[in-house]
Amino acid sequence: MAERTLVTSALPYANGAVHLGHAVEYIQTDIYVRFLRSCGQDVVYFCADDTHGTPIELNAAKHGVAPEQFVARFHDEHQRDFRDLDVRFDSFHSTNSPENRHYAELIYGRLKDAGDIDRRDIEQTYCEKDKRFLPDRFIRGTCPNCKSPDQYGDACEKCGKTYNPTDLIDPKCALCGTPPVRRNSEHLFFRLSRHADFLQEVLKRPGFIHPGLATQLQGFFEKGLADWDISRDGPYFGFAIPGETDKFFYVWLDAPIGYIATTEKWAKESGRFPDALAYWGKDAPTRIVHFIGKDIVYFHALFWPAVLKVAGLHVPNEIKVHGHLTVNGEKMSKTRGTMVPVRDYLDLLDPSYLRYFYAANLGAGVEDLDLNLKDFRLRVNGELVNNVGNLANRALSLLAGPLEKKLAPGRAEGAGRKLVEDALARVPEVREAFEKLEYRNAIKVITEIASTANAFLQTAAPWALVKKDAEAARADLSDAADVAYLVGALLAPVTPRVSEKLFAQLGAEPLTFQALATAKYPLLDRTRPLGTPEPLLPRLEEERVNAIIKVPEGTPAAEPAKAGGKDKKTEKKPMEAKGPDGAPTTQASPGAGAAEGAPAADIEFADFAKVVLKAGRIVAAEKVKGADKLLKLDVDLGEGTPRTIVSGIAEAYPAPEALAGRRVVVVANLKPRKLKGIESRGMLLTAGSGGKDLSLLEPGDVPPGADVK
Ligand code: MSP
Ligand code: ZN
Repeated sequence: MAERTLVTSALPYANGAVHLGHAVEYIQTDIYVRFLRSCGQDVVYFCADDTHGTPIELNAAKHGVAPEQFVARFHDEHQRDFRDLDVRFDSFHSTNSPENRHYAELIYGRLKDAGDIDRRDIEQTYCEKDKRFLPDRFIRGTCPNCKSPDQYGDACEKCGKTYNPTDLIDPKCALCGTPPVRRNSEHLFFRLSRHADFLQEVLKRPGFIHPGLATQLQGFFEKGLADWDISRDGPYFGFAIPGETDKFFYVWLDAPIGYIATTEKWAKESGRFPDALAYWGKDAPTRIVHFIGKDIVYFHALFWPAVLKVAGLHVPNEIKVHGHLTVNGEKMSKTRGTMVPVRDYLDLLDPSYLRYFYAANLGAGVEDLDLNLKDFRLRVNGELVNNVGNLANRALSLLAGPLEKKLAPGRAEGAGRKLVEDALARVPEVREAFEKLEYRNAIKVITEIASTANAFLQTAAPWALVKKDAEAARADLSDAADVAYLVGALLAPVTPRVSEKLFAQLGAEPLTFQALATAKYPLLDRTRPLGTPEPLLPRLEEERVNAIIKVPEGTPAAEPAKAGGKDKKTEKKPMEAKGPDGAPTTQASPGAGAAEGAPAADIEFADFAKVVLKAGRIVAAEKVKGADKLLKLDVDLGEGTPRTIVSGIAEAYPAPEALAGRRVVVVANLKPRKLKGIESRGMLLTAGSGGKDLSLLEPGDVPPGADVK
């Protein structure tokens, strides 16, 4: 029987907004699922809200609502956020559901029947005023090691030492400030220690987990695997343990069972299977893959496989672990505004940019990933907007304009055919990179394919050729369009909405990895008319990108971690600046400092009036040999002969030939000046901080030579 794949992302807590750190995981998983699907595999993708536990219960109480009501709000909000990030689950359920209760009870019953549940009396911290046992996070006191005040019950944030809440000096209940007492209570333990051999075998299975992590987990066995406390005393928001009084399943017992509950709901609703066992049955012909962050490895790699084995269910086949997101080189922080809610991002920017940037930086390892806002903007603009976007736009705009949306038939030989065939030959590299979660390698190959096609167009110069030999130009452009089609297919798992747009502009069906496995030149059905070309994605502007970080109100004005550095309030030297919590913060990103310093002196209108600004049209553009930053452009200013202008925009426009046809604003009365031996007669106006971050100003749809005032 054909293998079916079930993929999950970790279940977000229904305790707050999903942020850009969470998004790393959901985007990474979604790309994988879309890729497998494009390969023709039978794959389902599930997630759910994780609703139980003390923090959620207390947070609901703080908001004056029942926990059920509190988590319901996040269920809708989370689903909207995921949808708008283009993350497509087959089902998104909740751990506070009848299906989850059913499977939690079923699994617990099986653990009990197998003799794997043990009762033990343990002593715990209890608040007599709140009448509840206090989890470590709800006790605060002085660190026994470094004596820092106001530390949590499990670890000191100042010196990093871990300890038991009983070791804290002068402990207090974090809810009411009363000193807690010690109290005994009977707890239920899963006898994990009995399954050490099994787990060690699982950890060695090929592909189960990153080998580095398997080695790290080995440490647990050396110390001796401890049994796992799976019960909590009331009050607790969770499922009551059958046969017990006022005892509840610990949130981490029923959380992963949420994967099964969601499968059950989907199986029934879709009518595809009678229940979740079609996937989770011990011998079901399925491959189960969990995507998780590095902070929750123990739960997924130790507890969960053992629980499933004892319960007679399907043990996961693969656990894919990723690192954590940092923003501008620092751990995300609420007070600094860098724990950016997905919604704040989406209010300003298309999800494709973020998906692209994450993919361009993700490998199969567990290293952290940094969202440096400047890198984000430059990379996305340089690769996705300028390289990929220009290839599509260039190939299509001439074809759609002078060449009436008609493609040329494929050619028997020649550079254009070779271009497409060489690009096709690289598909297996991309495929392998996606399979291995080395997304950054996939992106590298894809951008190389696009660059090569851009270089091909540069040489072929169809914008010039079209006037002399329209059919030759059509043939070259059609081959470039073939490569654009391929690039659209390869990028589809990463930026599905960009690819959809591109396919529509090409007037073509979506192209899949499955079809690519046997595809041959030409890729496009050359008899079909093209659609209407439009820019795929606008460039990222610095202001908009920086605006995704919103510093919460009440935070001191100096906000050095904010990228941009134009903030006049940032008066301290950046390296000495302290964040609101006194921790040193990173320096504002350099390169954005162009606007710093005193404003320029006012000028008279007459001074401004001396400058003659004209609209122009770029006829041709090429790199200047021996100058990385310069382009030589021929610009039509409506004067009969185009002017030669040398401009320092080469880094921002790596495919200069794509500039042909672009409208620009020119300072027309500058004294001619020689640059690298070329006489430049005018200057192009740009916006941006320089280097890769420059955009040509566009005057709109006006004829060459029109006045700009
Ligand atoms: N509810 C548990 C998971 C239960 S799975 C049965 C949980 N929730 S969480 O909301 O805290 O995190 C959900 C996922 O997002 C986890 O895999 C976590 O590692 C990931 N991330 C949370 N913050 C992250 C970053 N800053 N960077 C990358 N991933 C992050 O844990
Ligand atoms: Zn208390």
